[in-house]
Amino acid sequence: MRTYKIALLPGDGIGREVIPEAFRVLQAVEHSVSGFHLDPHEFECGGEYYLKHGREWSSEAEEFTKNEADAVLLGAVGGITANGESIRRPDGHLAGYSVVIGLRIELELFANVRPVKLYEGVPTPLANKEYHHVNMIMVRENTEGLYAPQDEPSRASTSDMVIDKRVITKKGSMRVCDHAFSVASKSAGAPIDGVKRVTCVDKSNLLAGCQLFRRSFDEVGERYPDISRDYAYVDAFTQWMIRRPEYYNVVVAPNAFGDIITDLGAAIQGGLGMAPAGSIGTKHAVFEPVHGSAPKYYGRNVSNPIAAILSAAMMLDWLGRKHSDSKLQAASSTIEECVKAVLEEGSIRTYDLCIDRWKSVTPSSTTEVTDAIIKRVKEGV
Ligand code: IPM
Ligand code: MG
Repeated sequence: MRTYKIALLPGDGIGREVIPEAFRVLQAVEHSVSGFHLDPHEFECGGEYYLKHGREWSSEAEEFTKNEADAVLLGAVGGITANGESIRRPDGHLAGYSVVIGLRIELELFANVRPVKLYEGVPTPLANKEYHHVNMIMVRENTEGLYAPQDEPSRASTSDMVIDKRVITKKGSMRVCDHAFSVASKSAGAPIDGVKRVTCVDKSNLLAGCQLFRRSFDEVGERYPDISRDYAYVDAFTQWMIRRPEYYNVVVAPNAFGDIITDLGAAIQGGLGMAPAGSIGTKHAVFEPVHGSAPKYYGRNVSNPIAAILSAAMMLDWLGRKHSDSKLQAASSTIEECVKAVLEEGSIRTYDLCIDRWKSVTPSSTTEVTDAIIKRVKEGV
């Protein structure tokens, strides 16, 4: 039986509520599926930690996360001071930056995979769309582009004029596009027609970096003759995504555009409380819900734990594929099935999902939702 070392980094705010809940689900599934063991190593990190210790995490946490862990489960970073200001480092970056952005860059987690799936029983703001219309996987470039750390502030910048550099490379574009095509090859295709399709979302009518990104997309696409190639400019894409989400299967985009369209994706899948993610590289991966630390909700036991629980399921799936361990993949599917069953049944849900058809449902707490999922895991859905 193989043991997998998991770095648990709850971070700040509601990260501290949802990560322990996700781990409770992992333990339940380890028990019910059996045949593998998860060995958790929990560390503090982020803004709150920075306030106390003057650094974003301990050297022990950093060392374990980068060199020892088989996978990382991260909550969210971003704390606020007593007077409500966000906690920042002297360089102006959010305290916790080296944990989130730093890990993505240093561990070369080049593909940020964000499934946009609407489960039955979850409200969507899209009129006339049912749960089976929304099931796409967004793959965001995660190591370069507009969000990569700048080596030095541009010398041309002044206090009245700032230049943000956007570096896009062929290597970075090829590897993220390859990841997207490989995800598509294992998928069931787009809801509308079952066609395995990858859509390249860029602004190549204007930007040279996007032209390189699209050329790389085409070059990689040649290696996947069975997968259909599709193109959209990011501005037009936002309206197509709302009008005909069922057309999309896998979507790949440069970093900043990917950041924006994945929040739009979260909205149509029922909100940030429903949106899981994984930052994936060749050797390492960090799984974290798309949502942030939402400090004002911390300590109230009201936040939706499902995004974190589904991120934990993605982690098991990734570990299972990497180590050819079918037990982990079975455990991942079990979690997803149990989440699905709870949502479909309808009576246990956090406040964010108590709208539309479900507005008369009394909101459940974070722990009640987790308990309902665990009960299903124990009972076998
Ligand atoms: C995300 C977040 C982060 C990002 C922020 C917190 C830096 O918005 O994961 O989408 O843009 O990468
Ligand atoms: Mg974002």
